[in-house]
Amino acid sequence: ARKVILDCDPGHDDAVALLLAQANPAIELIAVTTVAGNQSLPKVTHNALGIATLAGITAPIAAGADGPLTRQASFATDIHGESGLDGATLPEASVTLDPRHAVDLIVELVMSHEPGEITLVPTGPLTNIALAVRREPRIVDRVREVVLMGGAARTGNRTPVAEFNIWFDPDAADVVFSAGWLVTMAGLDVTHQALATAEVAERIAAGDGPVARFTTELLAEFGRRYHDVAGFAAPPVHDPVAVAIVIDQEETARAQARLVQQDPAQSEPARSDEHVEHVEHVEHVGIVRAPITIETAGRHTTGMTVVDLRPSAPRDVPTAVALTLDAGWFWGLIIDAVTTLDTA
Ligand code: BDR
Ligand code: CA
Repeated sequence: ARKVILDCDPGHDDAVALLLAQANPAIELIAVTTVAGNQSLPKVTHNALGIATLAGITAPIAAGADGPLTRQASFATDIHGESGLDGATLPEASVTLDPRHAVDLIVELVMSHEPGEITLVPTGPLTNIALAVRREPRIVDRVREVVLMGGAARTGNRTPVAEFNIWFDPDAADVVFSAGWLVTMAGLDVTHQALATAEVAERIAAGDGPVARFTTELLAEFGRRYHDVAGFAAPPVHDPVAVAIVIDQEETARAQARLVQQDPAQSEPARSDEHVEHVEHVEHVGIVRAPITIETAGRHTTGMTVVDLRPSAPRDVPTAVALTLDAGWFWGLIIDAVTTLDTA
């Protein structure tokens, strides 16, 4: 299974990302770190501990940055409420907070594992990850890949062109996107395909258990707010898309390994131009390599992810953008995760 550090700011959709990462056998969740974003650091950390209690997460949970590198924090209270997770009832936390700072924990884990072992999955602002790169630049060569929720190649949400996580701390995003490691961006282009429709909500509500009830409450409130604030008929459940990409990578690699076992001639897959465009070939998400830079100084565009999708743009770059999602597959993963956690 892929070893993952989930860096998050729960957050309704971060909560679903945590459930998925904990339940899916393709992932081994080795740490959860929190960062200010949707709400203040104490609030999102409190939420993370409650979700961990509900989901049986035993990986260490550590709190990190309480605000952007240089700018003023501006939380997403309109979408996530005063608590950061309004409308969903959390159990009293029995999980305790790790005493280490999230940045120290990230550095420690990456440096003590083999190169290529750990995948970072940030689903909040990139402050912790940028601080970790600054603290220990050698993590850049040791991390397998960064698969993050953030950004938008086309239309933003916090501003016409900027997505919330990147807009909240563009300086941190700049550090992360230009570090030289592989960064796969699951931005709004793909997460707006992960809509919790009434049909999806009904399937989750049909489940019997505390995780199904929690997820049902959470999606109902998220849906109301996304409708009232942003005019969506169904809410986009952004953050678990980044987790799903890592699951897809692992499942695709396992399927390939099985093929090779059956027929060693398969070990050298045909290399077409199309393959070169993919960071790692996956089955259910369309991912394309493209240069991505972060606008940190725009008059109207601060926090924009500038994605070069021109046909002439170089493809031999370490950044990639997810553009299409098999939503049926994605919701199947979420429903399986809820069921697994409720039967555990
Ligand atoms: C992102 O912003 C947050 O409000 C969500 O949790 C998600 O990570 C979507 O723009
Ligand atoms: Ca988030």
